[in-house]
Amino acid sequence: MSAASAKRTIRVIVNGEARECDVEPRTHLVDCLREELGLKGSHLGCEHGVCGACTVRLDGEIVRGCLVLAVQADGGDVRTVEGLSANGTGRELQRAFVARNALQCGFCTPGMLAAALELVEQRPNATRTQVREWMSGNYCRCTGYHAIVDAVCEVLAQGAAAKTITGATG
Ligand code: FES
Ligand code: FES
Repeated sequence: MSAASAKRTIRVIVNGEARECDVEPRTHLVDCLREELGLKGSHLGCEHGVCGACTVRLDGEIVRGCLVLAVQADGGDVRTVEGLSANGTGRELQRAFVARNALQCGFCTPGMLAAALELVEQRPNATRTQVREWMSGNYCRCTGYHAIVDAVCEVLAQGAAAKTITGATG
């Protein structure tokens, strides 16, 4: 009858930690993360799947947190920007974003990092053009895209160099 009585308990693994919360069927994943689980790193911009500020990883794939219902993530594995530093490539991306001045206000940055991590892991040989295409689903209002693409390309180049060294010595 009341909204509270319609709530459902969901269980998710968030950044490697088992979490549980009560959500209404209409609650989106990003709202659940921010308001119920206290993870404010994922941002809410357009709320219509356009800007990419809410990008998180669900069961190994990046999704728009404003388009996925929290109940759809029940039993799933969620990774947010707060969990990025647990990953070597995520840390490298964060470092490269800072080194390349790839952020100003930082509003888009959590989504950018999530999208970039997916790219580096799935397409380690991506060209600059492919990086631009991949990142085009994430909007930035103030930095411009050049420095962001530079940062991602730097991490891709590091990965390629590391593979070359491994190949030479191994
Ligand atoms: S807030 Fe989800 S895509 Fe913009
Ligand atoms: S750094 Fe401000 S929107 Fe991208």
